[in-house]
Amino acid sequence: MSSSGHYTALSHSSDDLVDDDNKKQYTLSYTIDNPYPRLFFWACIVSILSSLVSLVLLIPGSGNRYNINNVPRVPPNKPMRRPNQYMGLDKVFAGRNHTEPFPPLVGFPSVLMQIKRSDPKREMREDERGHRSPVGFIYPDDRHFIVSSETSTIAQFRHLDYGMERCQLVIKIPKPTDILDPAIQLPGPSVIDIWTLDSPDELSPYTIWDYAPIRKSLFVSLNISEAGEATSPRFLCPSGLFSTFEFVCSGAQSCLVDFWQNKEAPHGGVHMVQYDSLIGEGL
Ligand SMILES: *[C@@H]1O[C@H](CO)[C@@H](O)[C@H](O)[C@H]1NC(C)=O
Ligand SMILES: *[C@@H]1O[C@H](CO)[C@@H](O)[C@H](O)[C@H]1NC(C)=O
Repeated sequence: MSSSGHYTALSHSSDDLVDDDNKKQYTLSYTIDNPYPRLFFWACIVSILSSLVSLVLLIPGSGNRYNINNVPRVPPNKPMRRPNQYMGLDKVFAGRNHTEPFPPLVGFPSVLMQIKRSDPKREMREDERGHRSPVGFIYPDDRHFIVSSETSTIAQFRHLDYGMERCQLVIKIPKPTDILDPAIQLPGPSVIDIWTLDSPDELSPYTIWDYAPIRKSLFVSLNISEAGEATSPRFLCPSGLFSTFEFVCSGAQSCLVDFWQNKEAPHGGVHMVQYDSLIGEGL
């Protein structure tokens, strides 16, 4: 734009916008040191080399440790472990004076499943109380606990929270509430054996749901009656791990303990109480 204030027509082509000096520079840099063919050449070399490396890595049995077949895989029926949620808390609590114990926690089994006593393969099933209703089929969260001459029950608990590693198993006959009909069958006191099972892993529908784990040891025998609750001795329950139990009629005796429980109707049924383990020694 000229400073004299005269009207200047707008140019029609972009070339016209470049003044002569710029045009010269542009042409110069293009011709003096023309880098593009060389850059292109090296780009080709690098890309060919990289393709060769990828091919070598993919050839099976080429004996190098990046062989894709050597990548460790999780076996299909090996459940994933849950991550530790309490990383570093042990360091926070170490050496602290915590004189009031934390109040106990109540945990309900994540699964309650049934096996036939006569089945050597210990195939598990999960009884449920699904029923038709005016709004469709309903599956309440009720879990079946049954110990009889024919049937045993498997329960798995996840150890909750940090520093609550003193555990105790409790069997208390549930009371009927407006959300739970426990349908109790307990003709008289029954003595049941509680076995610990060899299952450090989570029983879940996606992994080892099919067969009950093998028995590890007889933990305790409890006399179950309608009055009061039966409690096991305390045991160590490391945070984040699982305890798995099998409940069977004691010895060759016949027995019958049969009820439904629901964690929304608390303190009834089979549950676990966890006590503070940061205070004192032992269990
Ligand atoms: C913990 O408390 C005891 C007495 O109650 C005291 O002797 C000790 O020094 C305290 N320790 C720490 C780390 O505060
Ligand atoms: C179980 O408890 C009942 C009463 O609660 C008692 O009469 C019975 O003898 C006990 N059975 C055993 C084997 O301890």
